[in-house]
Amino acid sequence: MRVLGIETSCDETGVAVYDTEQGLLSQALFSQIDMHAVYGGVVPELASRDHVRRLLPLLRQVLSDAGIGARELDGVAYTAGPGLAGALLVGAGVARALAYGWGVPALPVHHMEGHLLAPLLEDDAPDFPFVALLVSGGHSLLLEARALGEYVPLGESVDDAAGEAFDKAAKMMGLGYPGGPAISRLAEQGRAGRFRFPRPMTDRPGLDMSFSGLKTFTLNTIHDLGGATVLDDQDRADVALAFQEAVVDTLVIKCRRAMQATGAKRLVVAGGVSANGMLRERLAQAMGKLGVKVYYPGLAYCTDNGAMIAYAGALRLAAGERQEGLGVSVRPRWP
Ligand code: KG4
Ligand code: ZN
Repeated sequence: MRVLGIETSCDETGVAVYDTEQGLLSQALFSQIDMHAVYGGVVPELASRDHVRRLLPLLRQVLSDAGIGARELDGVAYTAGPGLAGALLVGAGVARALAYGWGVPALPVHHMEGHLLAPLLEDDAPDFPFVALLVSGGHSLLLEARALGEYVPLGESVDDAAGEAFDKAAKMMGLGYPGGPAISRLAEQGRAGRFRFPRPMTDRPGLDMSFSGLKTFTLNTIHDLGGATVLDDQDRADVALAFQEAVVDTLVIKCRRAMQATGAKRLVVAGGVSANGMLRERLAQAMGKLGVKVYYPGLAYCTDNGAMIAYAGALRLAAGERQEGLGVSVRPRWP
């Protein structure tokens, strides 16, 4: 089975074709980061308009790279939510129309299921069941994946997502958008031990997380140093390191607890923050001690992409699912 996947939930237009026998046939991505960077974050209306501009050219490219015609597709998967309403509607409208025109099923995919399944695109893919830590710009959650579509929530952020905290802290330090890669690069020059940030919600049992306090802590730290405008490069690097260590340690502590609570031996880590080098290092140490194997998507598939949506759609199509009716609807909030 061959499925086209379309991702337009936020600021990347992603398109890909996945074949259940041959794997990923082709994929293309256009990132709007440069366009939004000047505003310090994603501007929803600009995002929607750019998806309109990019989607069809990317689609043509992906079909041509895969060397297949539109008639050789068995389904069209698209991100139906969660995400920005206008941005989602672009992908949903195009996907629904193409599926109708080609006479194949349309497959609405939950964006976070796309992230969750992205590590299964790798050669060394985890088998179900596994525990997953999903950390992106919009979500931070821990869940137990028992089988395709059988996901038991274990914990989530009660406020900001981990990636969102990176983005906001970076903005306070005058770094560019997105903040995760900027902070992680800067932290390499940081001196350990100058600041000690809290590890939120780790002093009590449970798998929920909270990252908004770290934002305030960052703001206060910058304030104590005299304000963002007087920070020198070393100050910024030291704050970046202390902030990153706090987020990473918190995530590692929660993962350790989740593995102990479930007894699972496989941990999947996905979503934009899973690209973070320090997170990968510290998880390797902590999980190694527990005999837990950690799985990541390839670096290109940590952040948003069409491949993960094509893949999730293909698995759902193979399981007999399809969208009924011709309505185009999206779920900007989708638990
Ligand atoms: O999964 P993603 O592309 O989009 C959402 O679904 O939100 O994740 C984007 C988030 C941003 O908040 C970005 O700052 C963060 O992932 N991110 C990182 C890194 N690369 C991206 N955070 C920490 N370290 C990184 N290397
Ligand atoms: Zn995402």
